[in-house]
Parts: sequence; C-alpha cells; structure tokens
Amino acid sequence: MADERRAMWGGRFTADPDALFRAFNDSLPIDWRLVHQDIEGSTAWARALGGAGVLTTDEVGRLVSALVDLDAEVHGSHEPPVDSGAEDVHSWVEQRLIEMLGDLGKKLHTGRSRNDQVAADLRLWTRGAIDERIGEIRGVQRELVRLGQRERSTPMPGYTHLQRAQPILLAHWCLAYVEMLDRDAARLADARTRVNVCPLGSAALAGTTYPIDREKIAAELGFDGITANSLDAVSDRDFVVETLAACALAAVHLSRIAEEMILYATAEFGFFTFDDGVSSGSSIMPQKKNPDALELIRGKCGRIVGDQTALLVTLKGLPLAYNKDLQEDKQPLFDANDRLSMCLRMLARVLSGMEVNREACERAAVGGFANATELADHLVGRGVPFRDAHTQVGLIVRAAIERGVTIEQLPIDAIRAHAPAAGEDVHACLTLASTLARRDVPGGTAPARVSVALESAAKKLDALGDPQTRIQPGEGVPE
Ligand code: ARG
Repeated sequence: MADERRAMWGGRFTADPDALFRAFNDSLPIDWRLVHQDIEGSTAWARALGGAGVLTTDEVGRLVSALVDLDAEVHGSHEPPVDSGAEDVHSWVEQRLIEMLGDLGKKLHTGRSRNDQVAADLRLWTRGAIDERIGEIRGVQRELVRLGQRERSTPMPGYTHLQRAQPILLAHWCLAYVEMLDRDAARLADARTRVNVCPLGSAALAGTTYPIDREKIAAELGFDGITANSLDAVSDRDFVVETLAACALAAVHLSRIAEEMILYATAEFGFFTFDDGVSSGSSIMPQKKNPDALELIRGKCGRIVGDQTALLVTLKGLPLAYNKDLQEDKQPLFDANDRLSMCLRMLARVLSGMEVNREACERAAVGGFANATELADHLVGRGVPFRDAHTQVGLIVRAAIERGVTIEQLPIDAIRAHAPAAGEDVHACLTLASTLARRDVPGGTAPARVSVALESAAKKLDALGDPQTRIQPGEGVPE
C-alpha cells in the first residue's frame, strides 16, 4: 500500500486499494480548491489543541509556522500537486506537515476527523464565495442604474404576453432587474447566516473527547457561532443547498434579462445594439452580429439549476451521519459559483457597452395602441363605467386598425362615434408624455417616480461601498 495511505488509515488493511477504486474515491483534483481553507482551519485547530493542553506552546508555534509556509507554498497553484498520492486535500495537508515536521505533524489530527474538517472547510469556502457573488451582483446593479440614468427619459413599450401593453420608461425596466437582483443578494446574505457556523469539535460524529474551546475556535475563524449537534454538524449540507438555490434563482433572473436583451437587439425590435467586444459573427453569413454573450448567460442557467438538483438528490435518503456521498457536494457548489460569477461579470460588461436606439424605442412605445387604457381612463373621468369604456375603446381600436392609423390620429368625431362621452381634450391625454406621467404612484413609471427610484437605487449602491471597477469595452474579464 502507498505509504501515505498507510499513514492515514492503513493500519487495519493488508492489501492496497485498486487503482480503479483510488481514481473513483480520490477527491484531491476537486477539493484542492479548499486548500487555503484547510490550512486556515488546521491553524485554528492547532491553537485549539494548545488551549486544550494537548500540544505545548512550542509545538503549536511550530505547527502554525509550518502551516504559514505551506500556505505560501500553495499560493496561486490552481492545480493539485501531481503524484502526491493523497486521497483528498485534508490528507494532503497532513501529509505535507508530516514531511515538514515529522512526528509533530502526526499530532495535528488529534481530536478531529475529516468529517468535521471538511464541513468547516466547505463553510469557509462558501462564505467567501457568497461575499464575492454579492459583490458581482452589485456590479450588475450599478450598470443597470447607470443605463437608467443615461436613458432617463427614453420610453419603450412595456409588454404583457410579449404584446405591447403600456408605455414605460426604459429606466423603469432597468430598475425592475435591480429589484430582482436585490432579492438575490438578500437571499445569499440570508443563506450566509446559516453557512457561518462552526462544526469543529464535532469530530467524526459524536463530538471530540478533548476539552476544545469551540466558541473560541469559531470566533478565530470568523464564524458567528457553533453548530449545536455533532451528528447534524458532520452530515449537514443544507447550507450548500441554500447557497445553490440562491445561485439558481439569480441565474434564472440573468437568463430572463438576457432573453429580453437578445430580443430587443433583433432587427424586428431594434432597441439595443451591443458592442463588438461582446458579439461574434457567423462563419457563413457576413452580415451577422450575434449576441453570444447573452445567449451563453441564458444557456448556463441550465447547468446552475442542475447543480442544485444534483445536490438535493444526493442528500435524499442519506442516513446520519457522514456518508461518502457527501463528497459529491463540491462539484455542484464550485460549478454553480464559477458559472454564476462569469455570467454576472459578463452581463455587467455587456450592459456597460450597450447602445440604446432611442428613436426605435420611442416609435414602438407610441405604436401598438399602447395608449388604449388612457382613452378608457379619460372616459371613466367623464362618468362612463370602466367596463363600458373598455368596450367603447375596443371598438375605437378596431376602427383605427381598419383605417391604418393610431388612436390619436383619429379625428374627434370618429372617437365619439363609439365613445360619445369623449371630451374636446381627448387627444391631449393620449400623448406618450401624459400616458407616462399619469402612472404617478410609488413604484410606477411616471418620470418623477422613476427619477426618485433611480436616485435611491444609486444611493443604496454607493452606501454599500467598494464600488467594483467597471469592466470597460475592450477589456478582458478578470478572473
Ligand atoms: N474527501 C471527503 C469529503 O469530501 C472528506 C471526508 C472524508 N471522511 C471520511 N470519513 N472518509 O467528503
């Protein structure tokens, strides 16, 4: 048997593991991403063992300094060391410590298990990932607010059933997505409260036998508290599911905005144009400029939703406490985070270089009888019951369609033929400006309301601080 495995758990074994089994069982290529967290957790554990009187101050000092060296050694290495023979990142760190310190390295695992260790490492990693995702979400929100500010007075059609419904401001559309993303950030932050509890001290499943100060080690690692039950602590991956759920819903939101943007960039709509830096061409059709960045954002959503499903199904039916099935938790977590991170950064970049064709937006906002509700409201104002007004306006729309004109192009007599109560001023209420201005409720699209909403969104984002550096057209997307 390979020496390093004999050292880890081989005492009871007489034969080597099959090569096939090793390849199947080993998780180092995947969990290598936890190496810094494992070193951080191990450092805190060494100190905790010192506090419990298991290690001397000198031993703790030597372990901690070897862990500092190890951290520097692995800094920036994205690939796991080849041929280390280690089964997973936890065994690898221990193996290196033994190489560095001899017998002292063998003492670090006193009173802990890889079961509480991996749970702690994963919680540390997830906490960091959540903070990064929230930062990236803020980056997209900032771009949406900037776009809204730039297009403060640009109207566009609002749709229901993808049919023109009522005119809105483009800034109002931007702010709708700012709201969605706000909820995504809040969901991630909420998940974080359950991520950020420390399982160390739970050991294999029943709790450690050493007098470890669990509160102290938790505080040292920046956790908000400690887990309450050792059995639960080593088998709980709810915190991963919750994080994945928040990622999945954020991805669904990104997919929705991507779809709208793709649509609005078609010749049929002609509202948006994306810059060359985020578009690609066709190998056969020279005229094509395709919104691949947005299509991929929409497409990657599938994998992210799948990641959440994968973990839920993995957890279903698992008896307490740790089972090796749990090793399958990392791929979906890493995959969803990698993908969502790319999508968020890509979307911010597409938004930052996007052009709006104001004339096309306005033309579409005016067309399509989007002011029909206005006419009905005008009639209601003159005493017509709404249901009757609705019917009368329906007839007027039909008359306009037959003549090939808009409602406001119909002369007053033609309007009155179906709606005798229409006033002399009826045309004034049918203008785009009036249609927009009358949506004057909190949350409505009236320009005054949208201005206030833009201000408050911008202020809120500023207050959150650390404004992300914008990814400008032509720049690469930093890792
Ligand atoms: N590589 C394992 C995982 O990711 C670490 C825990 C192993 N524990 C055990 N009892 N085999 O889940």
